[in-house]
Amino acid sequence: MKVLLVGNGGREHALARALVRTSDTTNPVDLVVQAGNPGIDPLGHPVPFDALDPAAVADLATRENADLVVIGPEAPLAAGVADAVRAAGIPVFGPSRAAAQLEASKSFAKQAMNRAGVATARSHTCTTMEQVDAALDDLGAPHVVKDDALAAGKGVVVTADREAAREHARACVEREGGAVVIEDYLDGPEVSLFCLCDGTDVIPLVPAQDFKRLLDANEGPNTGGMGAYSPLPWLREDLVAEVVAEVAVPTVRHMAERGTPFVGLLYCGLALTSKGTRVVEFNVRFGDPETQVVLERLDSSLAQLLHAAATGTLAQVPAPTWSSDAAVTVVMASAGYPGTLRTGEEITGVDQAEGLPGVTVIHAGTKTRLIGTEGAGEGNCCGVEPEEILVNSGGRVLDVTARAATVEAARAAAYEGVDLIHFDGAQYRRDIATWPARLQA
Ligand code: GLY
Repeated sequence: MKVLLVGNGGREHALARALVRTSDTTNPVDLVVQAGNPGIDPLGHPVPFDALDPAAVADLATRENADLVVIGPEAPLAAGVADAVRAAGIPVFGPSRAAAQLEASKSFAKQAMNRAGVATARSHTCTTMEQVDAALDDLGAPHVVKDDALAAGKGVVVTADREAAREHARACVEREGGAVVIEDYLDGPEVSLFCLCDGTDVIPLVPAQDFKRLLDANEGPNTGGMGAYSPLPWLREDLVAEVVAEVAVPTVRHMAERGTPFVGLLYCGLALTSKGTRVVEFNVRFGDPETQVVLERLDSSLAQLLHAAATGTLAQVPAPTWSSDAAVTVVMASAGYPGTLRTGEEITGVDQAEGLPGVTVIHAGTKTRLIGTEGAGEGNCCGVEPEEILVNSGGRVLDVTARAATVEAARAAAYEGVDLIHFDGAQYRRDIATWPARLQA
């Protein structure tokens, strides 16, 4: 099966690995990938293309004769890449631009949840500072302030400081067409549950937990996610069935009824509150870094599952099977993350870390750089062979992922890997997958 994978960050490296690792021997995956990630490139045929250009992606998929296009990040979905590929007659795993509003607009998501009868935090959508003040008064602290639009993981501020809440809200509403969603704070542990959807049917994957704050003990600013683990041995067994029945199925039904069927990955970000399970957020793509641990445990063919979702045939595929092994991923981030980044630092120790049993190093924000060519015209300088080194090029740089029989063993192996890797200014948490670390920001 020829698969074109759009996106080239850590999540897509995990997707590429899983597509290849679980490839069906009778119909092996032939992967075309978006060039530029040193971890992904060797797993397929790398092609440079603009992931945000719907026509360019559809043309490439047609030229490559792709059987399936898998779209990793939210930005191409919000830009309508899935619509263009679908219009070219090629199965695509990823929602239409209209259905991607479930992530691209927090107010749309709230409206959809309310109409579908999905339990979520009470909220107000505001476009003026007067409305913001009234909402903050009504809902009280801690304040949860969400940019209505996509903000690359930087849109949400949770704070007890009213002025900080107002400042974030002001930045959102003062942008042209800007709006902000202010909602009740949901206490309790957070869980991420990914559901494959084909417009009608839903297949849940296994739950994972993400560690969103930058620092140990859930201190510091929110990030895209600093680590994750799966399974969650403390989680009640019936949660998945409950979320499918009360969240995913009603949402998929609602999206179909409004004429924008949801095909792709519905990421249910949940809070297990004292009053019951509540949806914190929907995303319309695999979570990052939860995907790194969820897919590490998948035994079934990922390509077959995604193709079934893309072609409306989920009801015909067997339920996925999972390893009983645990997986843990620890994110190593650049100095300055999630603010102004220091990049271009040499990374060492990745090969040594990958030499550890069960350890894989996922590339999220790295690139290669040629050194030893300085001052050279044609060819190399002074007889010194140029050398390719790995450097950091993004906020989240590497996801050191380990698989072992228990969460404790996977955690120990992941940190053994982290300890072998070095780049100047590297930031990472030391408490990923420790428990009872159940309370998330
Ligand atoms: N890890 C959170 C996200 O993918 O949005």
